[in-house]
Amino acid sequence: MGAYDAPVMRLKGKEMSVVPVIEDAWLSVEDGKVTGFGRMKDMPSSFFENSACVPDRDRDRIDTESGVSVEDLSGRFVFPAFADSHTHIVYAGSRETEYEDKIKGLSYVEIAKRGGGILNSADLLHRTSEEELYETAMERLYKCVSGGTGAMEIKSGYGLSTEDELKMLRVIRRMKETAPIAVKSNFLAAHAFPRNYSNDHDGYVDLIVNEMIPLVASEGLADFIDVFCDEGFFTVEQTDRMLEAGAKYGMRPKIHANELALSGGIQVGVKHNALSVDHLEYVGKAERDALRGSETMATVLPGAAFFLGMPYSPAKEMIEDGLSVALASDYNPGSSPSASMKFVLSLASIMMRLTPAEALNAATVNGAYAMGLAGKYGQILKGEKANFVITKPMPSFAYFSYSYTEDLIEKVVVNK
Ligand code: NIG
Ligand code: FE
Repeated sequence: MGAYDAPVMRLKGKEMSVVPVIEDAWLSVEDGKVTGFGRMKDMPSSFFENSACVPDRDRDRIDTESGVSVEDLSGRFVFPAFADSHTHIVYAGSRETEYEDKIKGLSYVEIAKRGGGILNSADLLHRTSEEELYETAMERLYKCVSGGTGAMEIKSGYGLSTEDELKMLRVIRRMKETAPIAVKSNFLAAHAFPRNYSNDHDGYVDLIVNEMIPLVASEGLADFIDVFCDEGFFTVEQTDRMLEAGAKYGMRPKIHANELALSGGIQVGVKHNALSVDHLEYVGKAERDALRGSETMATVLPGAAFFLGMPYSPAKEMIEDGLSVALASDYNPGSSPSASMKFVLSLASIMMRLTPAEALNAATVNGAYAMGLAGKYGQILKGEKANFVITKPMPSFAYFSYSYTEDLIEKVVVNK
Protein backbone atom coordinates (compact mmCIF):
# COMPACT_ATOMS: atom_id res chain seq x y z
CA MET A 1 0.00 0.00 0.00
CA GLY A 2 1.13 3.56 -0.58
CA ALA A 3 3.49 2.65 -3.44
CA TYR A 4 3.60 5.28 -6.18
CA ASP A 5 5.13 5.47 -9.66
CA ALA A 6 5.94 9.16 -9.26
CA PRO A 7 6.51 11.29 -6.15
CA VAL A 8 3.41 12.62 -4.43
CA MET A 9 4.01 15.94 -2.72
CA ARG A 10 0.81 16.24 -0.69
CA LEU A 11 -2.78 15.08 -0.75
CA LYS A 12 -5.80 17.33 -0.31
CA GLY A 13 -9.49 16.82 0.42
CA LYS A 14 -10.91 13.85 -1.46
CA GLU A 15 -7.46 12.76 -2.66
CA MET A 16 -6.77 11.76 0.91
CA SER A 17 -9.32 8.97 0.80
CA VAL A 18 -7.32 6.94 -1.72
CA VAL A 19 -4.30 4.80 -0.92
CA PRO A 20 -2.94 2.87 -3.91
CA VAL A 21 -3.03 -0.86 -3.17
CA ILE A 22 -1.29 -3.68 -5.00
CA GLU A 23 -2.65 -7.02 -3.93
CA ASP A 24 -0.46 -10.11 -3.94
CA ALA A 25 2.56 -7.87 -4.47
CA TRP A 26 6.32 -8.16 -4.63
CA LEU A 27 8.73 -5.45 -3.55
CA SER A 28 12.49 -5.41 -4.02
CA VAL A 29 15.13 -3.44 -2.11
CA GLU A 30 18.80 -3.04 -2.89
CA ASP A 31 21.36 -0.99 -0.96
CA GLY A 32 18.58 0.52 1.12
CA LYS A 33 16.59 1.72 -1.87
CA VAL A 34 13.36 0.45 -3.38
CA THR A 35 14.21 -1.00 -6.77
CA GLY A 36 10.81 -2.25 -7.84
CA PHE A 37 7.35 -3.49 -6.95
CA GLY A 38 4.33 -4.90 -8.67
CA ARG A 39 1.96 -7.86 -8.76
CA MET A 40 3.45 -11.30 -8.19
CA LYS A 41 2.12 -12.52 -11.51
CA ASP A 42 4.05 -9.72 -13.24
CA MET A 43 7.30 -10.20 -11.33
CA PRO A 44 10.18 -10.03 -13.84
CA SER A 45 11.56 -13.48 -14.54
CA SER A 46 15.04 -11.98 -14.38
CA PHE A 47 14.41 -11.07 -10.79
CA PHE A 48 16.18 -14.10 -9.41
CA GLU A 49 18.54 -14.61 -12.32
CA ASN A 50 21.61 -14.58 -10.10
CA SER A 51 20.01 -16.76 -7.55
CA ALA A 52 19.72 -20.48 -7.47
CA CYS A 53 16.79 -20.07 -5.22
CA VAL A 54 13.13 -19.28 -5.80
CA PRO A 55 10.80 -18.15 -3.04
CA ASP A 56 9.76 -20.99 -0.82
CA ARG A 57 6.24 -20.18 0.26
CA ASP A 58 6.57 -22.47 3.30
CA ARG A 59 9.45 -20.62 4.86
CA ASP A 60 9.42 -16.94 5.60
CA ARG A 61 13.06 -16.14 5.03
CA ILE A 62 15.58 -17.59 2.66
CA ASP A 63 19.10 -16.33 2.24
CA THR A 64 20.18 -17.45 -1.17
CA GLU A 65 23.68 -18.33 -2.25
CA SER A 66 23.92 -15.06 -4.14
CA GLY A 67 23.13 -13.08 -1.04
CA VAL A 68 19.59 -12.30 -2.15
CA SER A 69 17.29 -12.47 0.80
CA VAL A 70 13.70 -13.40 0.11
CA GLU A 71 10.87 -12.99 2.54
CA ASP A 72 7.42 -14.41 2.11
CA LEU A 73 5.00 -11.83 3.46
CA SER A 74 1.76 -13.67 2.72
CA GLY A 75 -1.16 -12.22 4.66
CA ARG A 76 0.78 -9.13 5.68
CA PHE A 77 0.48 -5.49 4.62
CA VAL A 78 3.41 -3.28 3.68
CA PHE A 79 2.93 0.48 3.89
CA PRO A 80 5.22 3.54 4.08
CA ALA A 81 6.82 4.24 7.44
CA PHE A 82 5.18 7.12 9.28
CA ALA A 83 6.56 10.64 8.84
CA ASP A 84 6.05 12.07 12.34
CA SER A 85 6.32 15.81 11.74
CA HIS A 86 5.83 17.10 15.31
CA THR A 87 7.66 15.75 18.38
CA HIS A 88 9.37 17.03 21.51
CA ILE A 89 11.39 13.92 22.38
CA VAL A 90 14.41 15.70 23.86
CA TYR A 91 13.40 16.19 27.49
CA ALA A 92 14.51 15.33 31.00
CA GLY A 93 12.51 13.32 33.50
CA SER A 94 8.78 12.85 33.15
CA ARG A 95 5.64 14.64 34.32
CA GLU A 96 3.34 12.03 35.85
CA THR A 97 2.78 14.26 38.89
CA GLU A 98 0.91 16.65 36.61
CA TYR A 99 -0.93 13.68 35.16
CA GLU A 100 -2.21 13.02 38.67
CA ASP A 101 -3.09 16.73 39.03
CA LYS A 102 -5.10 16.45 35.82
CA ILE A 103 -6.90 13.40 37.16
CA LYS A 104 -7.82 15.49 40.22
CA GLY A 105 -9.32 18.10 37.92
CA LEU A 106 -6.68 20.71 37.12
CA SER A 107 -6.50 21.87 33.50
CA TYR A 108 -3.35 22.11 31.33
CA VAL A 109 -3.45 25.90 31.63
CA GLU A 110 -3.96 25.81 35.43
CA ILE A 111 -0.99 23.47 35.81
CA ALA A 112 1.14 25.78 33.64
CA LYS A 113 0.07 28.83 35.71
CA ARG A 114 1.23 27.07 38.89
CA GLY A 115 4.71 26.75 37.40
CA GLY A 116 4.22 23.19 36.25
CA GLY A 117 4.06 22.20 32.64
CA ILE A 118 6.75 23.41 30.27
CA LEU A 119 8.57 25.34 33.05
CA ASN A 120 8.82 22.15 35.07
CA SER A 121 10.47 20.41 32.10
CA ALA A 122 12.77 23.44 31.63
CA ASP A 123 14.00 23.17 35.25
CA LEU A 124 14.70 19.46 34.82
CA LEU A 125 16.44 20.01 31.50
CA HIS A 126 18.64 22.74 32.94
CA ARG A 127 20.02 20.23 35.46
CA THR A 128 20.59 17.47 32.91
CA SER A 129 23.77 17.00 30.88
CA GLU A 130 23.82 17.06 27.09
CA GLU A 131 25.01 13.46 27.13
CA GLU A 132 22.13 12.23 29.27
CA LEU A 133 19.62 14.16 27.17
CA TYR A 134 21.03 12.54 24.06
CA GLU A 135 20.88 9.02 25.54
CA THR A 136 17.28 9.31 26.73
CA ALA A 137 16.09 11.02 23.55
CA MET A 138 17.68 8.29 21.42
CA GLU A 139 15.86 5.66 23.48
CA ARG A 140 12.62 7.44 22.66
CA LEU A 141 13.58 7.73 19.01
CA TYR A 142 14.10 3.97 18.83
CA LYS A 143 10.68 3.45 20.44
CA CYS A 144 9.22 5.60 17.66
CA VAL A 145 11.06 3.62 14.99
CA SER A 146 9.91 0.29 16.36
CA GLY A 147 6.39 1.74 16.24
CA GLY A 148 6.76 2.37 12.52
CA THR A 149 8.21 5.90 12.32
CA GLY A 150 10.65 6.39 9.44
CA ALA A 151 11.30 10.16 9.67
CA MET A 152 10.70 12.68 12.41
CA GLU A 153 10.90 16.33 13.39
CA ILE A 154 12.19 17.19 16.88
CA LYS A 155 11.73 20.53 18.65
CA SER A 156 13.72 22.43 21.22
CA GLY A 157 11.60 24.45 23.67
CA TYR A 158 12.44 23.07 27.10
CA GLY A 159 15.53 25.26 27.37
CA LEU A 160 13.99 28.76 27.44
CA SER A 161 17.43 30.35 27.84
CA THR A 162 20.06 30.85 25.17
CA GLU A 163 22.39 28.30 26.73
CA ASP A 164 19.79 25.59 27.25
CA GLU A 165 18.08 26.06 23.89
CA LEU A 166 21.47 25.63 22.22
CA LYS A 167 22.08 22.55 24.39
CA MET A 168 18.83 20.99 23.15
CA LEU A 169 19.53 21.86 19.52
CA ARG A 170 23.01 20.33 19.73
CA VAL A 171 21.45 17.14 21.05
CA ILE A 172 19.09 17.15 18.07
CA ARG A 173 22.02 17.75 15.70
CA ARG A 174 23.78 14.70 17.13
CA MET A 175 20.58 12.69 16.73
CA LYS A 176 20.41 13.74 13.07
CA GLU A 177 23.87 12.33 12.58
CA THR A 178 23.42 9.06 14.44
CA ALA A 179 19.74 8.11 14.07
CA PRO A 180 18.81 5.49 11.49
CA ILE A 181 16.04 7.77 10.18
CA ALA A 182 15.82 11.30 8.76
CA VAL A 183 15.52 13.90 11.52
CA LYS A 184 14.57 17.60 11.18
CA SER A 185 15.14 20.16 13.93
CA ASN A 186 12.81 22.93 15.01
CA PHE A 187 13.79 25.90 17.19
CA LEU A 188 11.01 26.48 19.74
CA ALA A 189 12.37 28.90 22.35
CA ALA A 190 8.93 30.57 22.11
CA HIS A 191 7.29 27.63 23.88
CA ALA A 192 6.60 29.42 27.19
CA PHE A 193 7.83 32.48 29.08
CA PRO A 194 10.66 31.55 31.47
CA ARG A 195 10.26 32.62 35.12
CA ASN A 196 12.81 35.43 34.87
CA TYR A 197 10.70 37.03 32.13
CA SER A 198 7.28 36.41 33.69
CA ASN A 199 6.73 40.16 33.97
CA ASP A 200 8.52 41.08 30.77
CA HIS A 201 7.14 38.97 27.95
CA ASP A 202 8.36 41.33 25.25
CA GLY A 203 11.82 41.19 26.81
CA TYR A 204 11.91 37.44 26.22
CA VAL A 205 10.79 37.96 22.62
CA ASP A 206 13.64 40.51 22.26
CA LEU A 207 16.09 37.89 23.57
CA ILE A 208 14.84 35.36 21.02
CA VAL A 209 14.97 37.85 18.15
CA ASN A 210 18.25 39.59 18.97
CA GLU A 211 20.33 36.83 20.53
CA MET A 212 18.98 33.33 20.04
CA ILE A 213 17.93 33.37 16.38
CA PRO A 214 21.27 34.75 15.11
CA LEU A 215 23.23 32.24 17.24
CA VAL A 216 21.09 29.27 16.23
CA ALA A 217 21.43 30.29 12.60
CA SER A 218 25.20 30.77 12.83
CA GLU A 219 25.61 27.19 14.04
CA GLY A 220 23.07 25.95 11.46
CA LEU A 221 21.15 24.24 14.24
CA ALA A 222 17.54 24.62 13.07
CA ASP A 223 15.62 23.67 9.96
CA PHE A 224 12.51 25.41 11.25
CA ILE A 225 11.28 28.00 13.73
CA ASP A 226 8.28 27.43 16.01
CA VAL A 227 6.13 29.58 18.29
CA PHE A 228 3.34 28.53 20.66
CA CYS A 229 0.88 31.16 19.43
CA ASP A 230 -2.09 30.72 21.70
CA GLU A 231 -4.16 32.25 24.44
CA GLY A 232 -1.98 32.71 27.54
CA PHE A 233 1.22 32.05 25.59
CA PHE A 234 2.65 34.12 22.69
CA THR A 235 0.48 36.75 20.99
CA VAL A 236 0.00 37.16 17.25
CA GLU A 237 2.13 40.33 17.32
CA GLN A 238 4.98 38.59 19.14
CA THR A 239 4.69 35.63 16.76
CA ASP A 240 4.85 38.00 13.81
CA ARG A 241 8.10 39.52 15.10
CA MET A 242 9.79 36.20 15.73
CA LEU A 243 8.79 34.66 12.41
CA GLU A 244 9.98 37.72 10.57
CA ALA A 245 13.33 37.54 12.38
CA GLY A 246 13.60 33.80 11.62
CA ALA A 247 12.84 34.39 7.93
CA LYS A 248 15.89 36.64 7.66
CA TYR A 249 17.97 33.58 8.47
CA GLY A 250 16.03 31.23 6.21
CA MET A 251 14.12 29.49 9.02
CA ARG A 252 10.71 28.44 7.76
CA PRO A 253 7.96 28.42 10.40
CA LYS A 254 6.11 25.36 11.68
CA ILE A 255 4.06 26.65 14.55
CA HIS A 256 1.80 25.62 17.44
CA ALA A 257 -1.56 27.30 16.87
CA ASN A 258 -5.15 27.24 18.07
CA GLU A 259 -4.81 24.52 20.69
CA LEU A 260 -6.48 26.58 23.36
CA ALA A 261 -8.50 29.19 21.45
CA LEU A 262 -9.18 30.86 18.11
CA SER A 263 -5.85 32.60 18.64
CA GLY A 264 -5.07 33.98 15.18
CA GLY A 265 -2.15 31.55 15.08
CA ILE A 266 -3.30 29.89 11.87
CA GLN A 267 -3.58 33.22 10.06
CA VAL A 268 -0.19 34.51 11.20
CA GLY A 269 1.37 31.15 10.25
CA VAL A 270 -0.12 31.28 6.75
CA LYS A 271 0.96 34.92 6.42
CA HIS A 272 4.56 33.81 6.98
CA ASN A 273 4.19 30.85 4.60
CA ALA A 274 4.55 28.34 7.44
CA LEU A 275 5.22 24.80 6.29
CA SER A 276 2.66 23.70 8.84
CA VAL A 277 0.39 25.00 11.58
CA ASP A 278 -0.11 22.39 14.26
CA HIS A 279 -2.71 21.35 16.88
CA LEU A 280 -5.74 23.22 15.46
CA GLU A 281 -8.30 22.14 18.02
CA TYR A 282 -10.01 25.50 17.40
CA VAL A 283 -10.73 26.04 13.71
CA GLY A 284 -13.57 28.09 12.21
CA LYS A 285 -14.40 29.30 8.74
CA ALA A 286 -11.89 32.17 8.84
CA GLU A 287 -9.12 29.68 9.67
CA ARG A 288 -10.17 27.27 6.90
CA ASP A 289 -10.31 30.18 4.45
CA ALA A 290 -6.79 31.21 5.43
CA LEU A 291 -5.48 27.68 4.86
CA ARG A 292 -7.20 27.21 1.50
CA GLY A 293 -4.84 27.93 -1.37
CA SER A 294 -1.86 28.25 0.98
CA GLU A 295 1.24 26.08 1.09
CA THR A 296 0.68 25.46 4.80
CA MET A 297 -0.17 21.97 6.03
CA ALA A 298 -2.84 21.64 8.73
CA THR A 299 -1.26 19.22 11.19
CA VAL A 300 -3.47 17.71 13.87
CA LEU A 301 -2.29 15.98 17.05
CA PRO A 302 -5.09 13.86 18.48
CA GLY A 303 -2.75 12.31 21.06
CA ALA A 304 -2.64 15.65 22.91
CA ALA A 305 -6.43 16.12 22.84
CA PHE A 306 -6.82 12.54 24.11
CA PHE A 307 -4.31 12.91 26.95
CA LEU A 308 -5.55 16.33 28.06
CA GLY A 309 -9.23 15.43 27.67
CA MET A 310 -9.69 18.42 25.39
CA PRO A 311 -11.73 18.89 22.20
CA TYR A 312 -10.41 17.19 19.07
CA SER A 313 -9.51 19.17 15.98
CA PRO A 314 -12.27 19.30 13.35
CA ALA A 315 -9.92 17.52 10.94
CA LYS A 316 -12.71 15.80 9.01
CA GLU A 317 -14.37 19.13 8.28
CA MET A 318 -11.07 20.48 6.99
CA ILE A 319 -10.68 17.47 4.67
CA GLU A 320 -14.28 17.83 3.50
CA ASP A 321 -13.48 21.45 2.81
CA GLY A 322 -10.71 20.33 0.43
CA LEU A 323 -7.78 21.05 2.76
CA SER A 324 -4.62 19.05 3.33
CA VAL A 325 -4.30 17.46 6.78
CA ALA A 326 -1.33 15.72 8.43
CA LEU A 327 -1.23 13.65 11.61
CA ALA A 328 1.65 13.62 14.09
CA SER A 329 2.33 12.23 17.55
CA ASP A 330 3.31 15.41 19.47
CA TYR A 331 5.35 12.98 21.62
CA ASN A 332 6.20 15.08 24.73
CA PRO A 333 6.14 14.66 28.51
CA GLY A 334 3.27 17.06 29.22
CA SER A 335 0.49 16.54 26.74
CA SER A 336 1.27 13.41 24.74
CA PRO A 337 3.69 10.94 26.37
CA SER A 338 3.41 8.36 23.61
CA ALA A 339 5.56 7.25 20.69
CA SER A 340 2.77 5.36 18.99
CA MET A 341 1.70 6.57 15.55
CA LYS A 342 -0.52 3.49 15.36
CA PHE A 343 -2.54 4.86 18.28
CA VAL A 344 -2.64 8.25 16.54
CA LEU A 345 -4.25 6.54 13.52
CA SER A 346 -6.81 4.91 15.82
CA LEU A 347 -7.65 8.23 17.48
CA ALA A 348 -7.92 9.92 14.09
CA SER A 349 -10.49 7.37 13.00
CA ILE A 350 -12.34 6.81 16.29
CA MET A 351 -12.42 10.40 17.54
CA MET A 352 -12.10 12.49 14.37
CA ARG A 353 -13.87 10.22 11.83
CA LEU A 354 -10.98 10.00 9.40
CA THR A 355 -11.18 6.83 7.34
CA PRO A 356 -8.22 4.47 7.74
CA ALA A 357 -7.02 5.59 4.29
CA GLU A 358 -7.27 9.30 5.17
CA ALA A 359 -5.42 8.66 8.42
CA LEU A 360 -2.63 6.72 6.69
CA ASN A 361 -2.17 9.44 4.06
CA ALA A 362 -2.16 12.11 6.78
CA ALA A 363 0.56 10.25 8.71
CA THR A 364 2.72 9.44 5.70
CA VAL A 365 2.52 11.53 2.50
CA ASN A 366 1.26 14.67 4.26
CA GLY A 367 3.48 14.18 7.31
CA ALA A 368 6.51 14.13 5.02
CA TYR A 369 5.34 17.39 3.40
CA ALA A 370 4.93 18.97 6.84
CA MET A 371 8.62 18.42 7.60
CA GLY A 372 10.13 19.37 4.26
CA LEU A 373 10.52 15.81 2.99
CA ALA A 374 7.70 15.85 0.45
CA GLY A 375 7.88 13.26 -2.28
CA LYS A 376 10.80 11.41 -0.67
CA TYR A 377 9.42 9.97 2.55
CA GLY A 378 5.97 8.75 3.51
CA GLN A 379 5.58 6.80 0.30
CA ILE A 380 7.05 3.73 -1.36
CA LEU A 381 8.77 4.95 -4.47
CA LYS A 382 11.18 3.33 -6.90
CA GLY A 383 14.67 4.82 -6.51
CA GLU A 384 13.94 6.33 -3.08
CA LYS A 385 15.04 5.08 0.34
CA ALA A 386 13.30 1.97 1.58
CA ASN A 387 11.20 3.02 4.57
CA PHE A 388 8.26 0.83 5.29
CA VAL A 389 6.28 -1.08 7.85
CA ILE A 390 5.51 -4.78 7.50
CA THR A 391 2.48 -5.79 9.53
CA LYS A 392 1.67 -9.11 11.11
CA PRO A 393 -0.92 -11.10 9.16
CA MET A 394 -4.20 -9.13 9.27
CA PRO A 395 -7.59 -9.55 7.58
CA SER A 396 -7.65 -6.00 6.14
CA PHE A 397 -5.79 -2.71 6.40
CA ALA A 398 -8.58 -1.20 8.52
CA TYR A 399 -7.83 -3.88 11.12
CA PHE A 400 -4.53 -2.12 11.89
CA SER A 401 -6.11 0.86 13.68
CA TYR A 402 -9.37 -0.91 14.57
CA SER A 403 -7.55 -3.32 16.85
CA TYR A 404 -6.22 -0.34 18.67
CA THR A 405 -4.13 -1.88 21.44
CA GLU A 406 -2.77 -4.84 19.50
CA ASP A 407 0.87 -4.88 18.43
CA LEU A 408 0.47 -5.50 14.73
CA ILE A 409 3.90 -4.44 13.51
CA GLU A 410 6.13 -7.32 12.51
CA LYS A 411 9.05 -5.38 11.12
CA VAL A 412 10.07 -1.82 10.31
CA VAL A 413 12.57 -1.22 7.51
CA VAL A 414 14.29 2.19 7.69
CA ASN A 415 16.98 3.96 5.66
CA LYS A 416 17.98 7.60 5.44
O1 NIG B 1 2.53 20.47 21.66
N1 NIG B 1 1.28 23.04 23.27
C1 NIG B 1 2.45 23.24 23.54
N2 NIG B 1 3.46 22.40 23.63
C2 NIG B 1 3.39 20.98 23.75
C3 NIG B 1 3.25 20.56 25.15
C4 NIG B 1 4.49 20.70 25.85
C5 NIG B 1 4.45 20.28 27.29
O2 NIG B 1 3.41 20.36 27.97
O3 NIG B 1 5.53 19.89 27.72
C6 NIG B 1 2.33 20.40 22.86
O4 NIG B 1 1.32 19.86 23.30
FE1 FE C 1 3.84 20.25 20.38
